[in-house]
Amino acid sequence: MVTGASAGIGEAIARDLVAAGARVVVNARRAERVNTLAADLNQQAGRTVAASVAGDCSDTGVIRAMLETARRTFGTRPDLVVVNAGRGLDGSVLTSDTEQWEEMIRTNHIGAARLMREAALEMTAGGKPLERPRDIIVIGSVVGRHVSPFSSMYGSTKFAVGGLAEGLRREVGPKGVRVTLVLPGFVVSEFQGVAGYRPEWVKQVFDRIGPVLEPADVARAVTFIAQQPPHVHLSEVMIRPTRQDYP
Ligand SMILES: NC(=O)c1ccc[n+]([C@@H]2O[C@H](COP(=O)([O-])OP(=O)(O)OC[C@H]3O[C@@H](n4cnc5c(N)ncnc54)[C@H](OP(=O)(O)O)[C@@H]3O)[C@@H](O)[C@H]2O)c1
Repeated sequence: MVTGASAGIGEAIARDLVAAGARVVVNARRAERVNTLAADLNQQAGRTVAASVAGDCSDTGVIRAMLETARRTFGTRPDLVVVNAGRGLDGSVLTSDTEQWEEMIRTNHIGAARLMREAALEMTAGGKPLERPRDIIVIGSVVGRHVSPFSSMYGSTKFAVGGLAEGLRREVGPKGVRVTLVLPGFVVSEFQGVAGYRPEWVKQVFDRIGPVLEPADVARAVTFIAQQPPHVHLSEVMIRPTRQDYP
């Protein structure tokens, strides 16, 4: 299961996982995009390897619909849930748009927590530990580890998911579920526009530290994490453009 798969990192993860042999349930709010992605993956594979569930992934009903779709379409519980959907927000506690705080916190923090909860409940219901790998991979951010004054409100949501991921790892690791935190630096995607970063500022940063990461770079790391043998857990991966000095 991959949330936030209508663009950027989530779409790249879905594509990379299918290329590695997985079957996926993809989600995002833009129905046309996720339906087209699933249709495209199915057409390329010549069989059903993808299904889509459109909707807001901070809604427990949508999360449960994804689990149900996995069962109905593939006859199985998910082995891998990627908690990816999220959005940025330009500015600090002083300068960011307060009108956008609640939507961001609902998606990035509460939505992530709900998905982690439902995924962990599903993965720990039955099945012997280490029988086969089960993964919850959470997309955090470098700014959820190192404070960035230019996006500290957004960063606070990523500090939150980092804490949730490590807490959940301690809870369900003994039951054979690997909870992994991936912390990307700058990745070129729709993220910068949605966050409201000034295009001139983005250009200046990308010119200085580029080439920045492509979504496929993060996707490869996710697939690598999931492909480890069941007794091996890469519990945190920070992935930055080589020339990114800060944060
Ligand atoms: N780009 C970066 O530099 C960067 C760095 C570190 C971490 N990250 C993190 O990586 C993740 C993916 O970001 P990205 O760079 O791929 O950004 P993106 O290109 O803007 O993609 C974000 C995805 O999340 C989906 N989404 C947003 N809110 C949602 C909601 N409430 N319910 C369901 N889907 C939702 C969007 O689709 P819809 O609009 O169709 O719902 C879209 O598919 C985010 O968690 C982000 O914080 C990004």
